[in-house]
Amino acid sequence: MGTSRMFRIFVVLGSAFMVLLIIIYWDDVGASHLYLHTPVSPGPRIPHPPPPKTRPQTSRAPSFLNDIDAFVNQFLEPGTGEPTDPAPVDTGNQSEKAEERYVPRREWKIHLTPVAAELRERQEHRRKLLQEMCANDSIVFPGKNRSFDDIPNKELDHLIVDDRHGIIYCYVPKVACSNWKRIMIILSESLLRDGVPQRDPLAIPRDLVHNSSMHFTFNKFWKRYGKFARHLMKVKLKKYTKFLFVRDPFVRLISAYRNKFELRNEDFYRRFAQVMLRRYANQPTPPATVDEAFSVGLHPSFSHFIQYLLDPQTEKEMPFNEHWRQVYRLCHPCQIQYDFVGHLESAEEDAEHLLRQLRVDNVVEFPTSHRNLTASSWEADWFNAVPLEARRELYKLYEPDFRLFGYERPDSLLNE
Ligand SMILES: *[C@@H]1O[C@H](CO)[C@@H](O)[C@H](O)[C@H]1NC(C)=O
Ligand SMILES: *[C@@H]1O[C@H](CO)[C@@H](O)[C@H](O)[C@H]1NC(C)=O
Ligand SMILES: *[C@@H]1O[C@H](CO)[C@@H](O)[C@H](O)[C@H]1NC(C)=O
Ligand SMILES: *[C@@H]1O[C@H](CO)[C@@H](O)[C@H](O)[C@H]1NC(C)=O
Ligand SMILES: *[C@@H]1O[C@H](CO)[C@@H](O)[C@H](O)[C@H]1NC(C)=O
Repeated sequence: MGTSRMFRIFVVLGSAFMVLLIIIYWDDVGASHLYLHTPVSPGPRIPHPPPPKTRPQTSRAPSFLNDIDAFVNQFLEPGTGEPTDPAPVDTGNQSEKAEERYVPRREWKIHLTPVAAELRERQEHRRKLLQEMCANDSIVFPGKNRSFDDIPNKELDHLIVDDRHGIIYCYVPKVACSNWKRIMIILSESLLRDGVPQRDPLAIPRDLVHNSSMHFTFNKFWKRYGKFARHLMKVKLKKYTKFLFVRDPFVRLISAYRNKFELRNEDFYRRFAQVMLRRYANQPTPPATVDEAFSVGLHPSFSHFIQYLLDPQTEKEMPFNEHWRQVYRLCHPCQIQYDFVGHLESAEEDAEHLLRQLRVDNVVEFPTSHRNLTASSWEADWFNAVPLEARRELYKLYEPDFRLFGYERPDSLLNE
């Protein structure tokens, strides 16, 4: 009895050490390929588990893996790993408040157990759908056939690169992009506070989150790498994990309208609302400022907004603003093979899966949103005032996004 128990413990420990060795070895190999230019951060690094695809243990029993989880995590108890380090001290007033919010999650663990099969299949399905839609010649949209080299530099401004972890994120405004941008800032350690990288996503001020100087995007490669820019982009696209988040295209438009035209926004009022009021609302001289307009209860209706999108004049003046530009134009899903396609409709599950796949679930957590999200169920109400013909035109404009990302044609809005 005693010896057999000893033997079992011995076998488990031995196997666990083997796994640890494999993990560390893999991490080194990964690092030497991945870090093309970024200075490597000092301080302790937690060995990352290898991605589930390549892990040889995935076929073993889950209980065995749970043992290993427990074993590995023994070494990550308070004080030994990044997630449990005390938050950096700061004497600033604003950051004191941030300090209060920053609660190091002591239960943060490295997961070695596989992600739920359902979630992996979901991703498999979304990736396959993208491939099929890109290969299907009956689905046509501008720019679909061009090669990556033919995409102008300025159209690559939504691809954020994190060399530290080998991640590329294509941000789509109105699809939780603030939160993912926050995470990219944390991961790339591009925001320092008293010389220490910021680690609480929610402590990053809003204006900084959207300040392009915080993000290293593809369109900046030219400046940094000169004639090697395209080549390096392609190397990184090949080696890094690429992800994006999408949502129902019509609901995204409702969200954009609510955010930019129902709330006071001076910039959007001047650039877009005034144009809509002039062209479609019989207001030849709309109020000069958003405050004046709101004080007399004047703002473009959702119908005016849709009319603006459908007006050929709009695209002639300049490309759609990023808040309503189609995802296929922002993220080039037929030129870039995304490894992960998140849906806002399942944001929390997808976020957790993604952070695990990226092997950073021990570094950041996706901030849960408590804001008044635009719900899909409101769609019928919002489109009530939009004429049927306009809805159909609008569908044509956004059809590639519906098809590429598996959103059903909203028949109830388009038939009759
Ligand atoms: C922090 O800032 C607020 C206003 O932003 C101010 O009223 C308060 O006195 C400041 N507190 C400290 C400790 O500086
Ligand atoms: C391509 O798309 C068309 C129209 O949506 C569809 O009928 C057809 O089955 C698709 N072809 C393939 C090979 O998937
Ligand atoms: C893209 O290529 C396919 C065949 O390769 C062709 O049928 C289709 O018309 C092309 N589409 C565009 C927009 O050029
Ligand atoms: C963005 O940040 C940079 C430096 O941090 C600053 O100089 C610039 O003014 C900021 N831009 C905006 C639009 O806030
Ligand atoms: C959320 O927004 C909708 C529409 O803008 C509004 O009717 C509703 O009262 C809001 N809910 C909350 C909890 O603020």
